[in-house]
Amino acid sequence: MNRLDWSSQPGKALHGSVRVPGDKSVSHRALMLAAIAEGDSRIRGFLEGEDTRATAAVLSQLGVHIETPSVGERYVHGVGLHGLRGSSQPLDCGNAGTGMRLLAGLLAGQAFDSMLVGDASLSKRPMRRVTDPLAQMGAHIDTQDGLPPLDVRGGQSLQGIRYELPVASAQVKSALLLAGLYAVGETEIIEPHPTRDYTERMLAAFGWPITFAPGRARLAGGHTLRAADVDVPADFSSAAFFLVAASIVPGSELRLPAVGLNPRRTGLLQALRLMGADIVVEHPRESGGEPVGDLLVRHAPLHGVDLPEVLVPDMIDEFPCLFIAAAVASGRTVIRGAAELRVKESDRIATMATGLRTLGVAIEETPDGAIIQGGRIGAGSVESHLDHRIAMSFAVAGLVASGPVRINDCRHVATSFPGFLELANRCGFALQSVD
Ligand code: S3P
Repeated sequence: MNRLDWSSQPGKALHGSVRVPGDKSVSHRALMLAAIAEGDSRIRGFLEGEDTRATAAVLSQLGVHIETPSVGERYVHGVGLHGLRGSSQPLDCGNAGTGMRLLAGLLAGQAFDSMLVGDASLSKRPMRRVTDPLAQMGAHIDTQDGLPPLDVRGGQSLQGIRYELPVASAQVKSALLLAGLYAVGETEIIEPHPTRDYTERMLAAFGWPITFAPGRARLAGGHTLRAADVDVPADFSSAAFFLVAASIVPGSELRLPAVGLNPRRTGLLQALRLMGADIVVEHPRESGGEPVGDLLVRHAPLHGVDLPEVLVPDMIDEFPCLFIAAAVASGRTVIRGAAELRVKESDRIATMATGLRTLGVAIEETPDGAIIQGGRIGAGSVESHLDHRIAMSFAVAGLVASGPVRINDCRHVATSFPGFLELANRCGFALQSVD
């Protein structure tokens, strides 16, 4: 992959309507459940990102026929719970932690062996959080000292377990539920804090008996998934960059139509409102069993906050852009209880702290968060660390910096947000690719 640098400059006030791509979490899950369902499923609003395409490619490699009738649409010919076929080649999850962890659960109960691999960033991410509880279910997965590749041994008989998650993680919960489809008896998951419940909702929509409530989920093996059509909402995590951008650029007013507003995803909305943001949810409605709405965001002066820890899991992917909002806000923002940020696509506490310091912002890193003194953002050159959300967050910072912000190596933006640069420029960013 060639390196791609960006330069983001102070632009105009942001205006217009920005339709962000489909939800990454929902797109991954829709592909996986449709693949092992009986019958053909149609997915609309599918995220055409590298992460979700990698999952589609893995499923094709496992013998699932997936058609692309149009951009953002997939037609999946389900093979049934026991219809996947093994591949002698490694299964490449690219940059996608969600893809690898959920597939680990799905593949743990198959009759065949599999090898899950990822790119340089994914190869540094912890996998014991899934392989340990899967081993308790009877799975046999070898790691490289807890890191990928994952060598999944087939032909194991799985047993349901009751598992209390040590960290709030929808990926771990989902991996165990997927393994639980193949297990004898009941699999029950208890979370320290409720996380996104897309797997639970979608299993129910595909006809698998499951009981769930915030923080708990329980299912038994031995049923059948029936094909279903899935409408994927726009990804709140992609909308987040525009919520922060319009909040901090004077004179801005942006509309973001049909954004997924699952309460386990919208912590940033509450955090920004606590900081003084002006964001209105218009036309709240349901689509495909998920709450969605149109977001209207206008510029407002932001002030620092002591971020309530309870919001952390509900905004776990939005911290990089919250750091930018905090750097512009008046006063001090304190973030605690967010140590999970250190094991995302990069160590997001360290990468944001280093980048913001380069741009002249006073920021103190703590083991589980940061203390950010808001004020002015200066010009400079920062690293993305192969992390899509770090790259896009610094593109937002450039809008209000005293000069150009150069962001090195932004090629991973396409993992979750293909077309970000063009969409951003259409509403007022001044973002360019540079050599
Ligand atoms: C995801 C869960 C979160 C999130 C990731 C997507 C999912 O990870 O950060 O981007 O789709 O389940 P964790 O479950 O590891 O917190």
